[in-house]
Amino acid sequence: MNQHNPSSAAKAPAPSVAHPIDSDVSGMTEAPPATLFSDLRDRFAFLKGFLGSPNGVASMVPSSHWLEQRVVRAAGLSQARCVIELGPGTGGTTRALLRAMPAQARLLAIELNPGFQAHVRKVVRDPRLHVELGSAEDIGAFLAARRLPAADAVISGIPFSTMPFEVGDRIAQAVAQHLAPGGRFVAYQWAAAVAERTTPYLGAPHVQFEAFNIPPMRVYTWTKAAG
Ligand SMILES: C[S@@+](CC[C@H](N)C(=O)[O-])C[C@H]1O[C@@H](n2cnc3c(N)ncnc32)[C@H](O)[C@@H]1O
Repeated sequence: MNQHNPSSAAKAPAPSVAHPIDSDVSGMTEAPPATLFSDLRDRFAFLKGFLGSPNGVASMVPSSHWLEQRVVRAAGLSQARCVIELGPGTGGTTRALLRAMPAQARLLAIELNPGFQAHVRKVVRDPRLHVELGSAEDIGAFLAARRLPAADAVISGIPFSTMPFEVGDRIAQAVAQHLAPGGRFVAYQWAAAVAERTTPYLGAPHVQFEAFNIPPMRVYTWTKAAG
């Protein structure tokens, strides 16, 4: 697993193949439910990623099922057309989001760690999903390259507390800019850094707490003003 410096977050190459949002998604091949093998495989890959980049990953284990469900409910995805995930890790949260999304929606996942990006591309097979390598700072470039509209929801597990202030500030600005009016930004974090970066752009968040996770997490939800 490569080392990553959040301050020099990769400027990922723009994807060459565009997938407009109204393209055909028939013949969906959503990944089957987790088995003991796939769960252990993902946990091992996650730990390896953490050991390679402790500050970039900031957790030794993936999010719990309870946290995934709380995040999915907070995001309100039943009518979503375009959803963005920042930091899919080994794909547990990605699968939970896909299960809650409509059949014609798109999920753009942006991951800084090349090992995780390759892992998710391999184990989460769903034609609604695009897994891109790069920084959450570049949401706008990734949306444009895929010809996707503003996001109905942005979901983030990236560690704002361990990245330089200016990187977190650019990510918060990009989220606010590329969220559709009425869209939601859901960020799950132990520390309050994400709230400090985002509140100047989206106002005060609604805050929930999920105890059944290692570590326990705050789940912050912002709703962008309509119009
Ligand atoms: C705590 S893990 C969350 C993984 C997964 N979503 C979960 O909940 O199990 C944080 C993830 O954010 C990724 N990450 C960190 N900084 C990032 C950035 N600037 N842009 C995109 N992904 C980033 C890490 O590589 C890691 O996969």
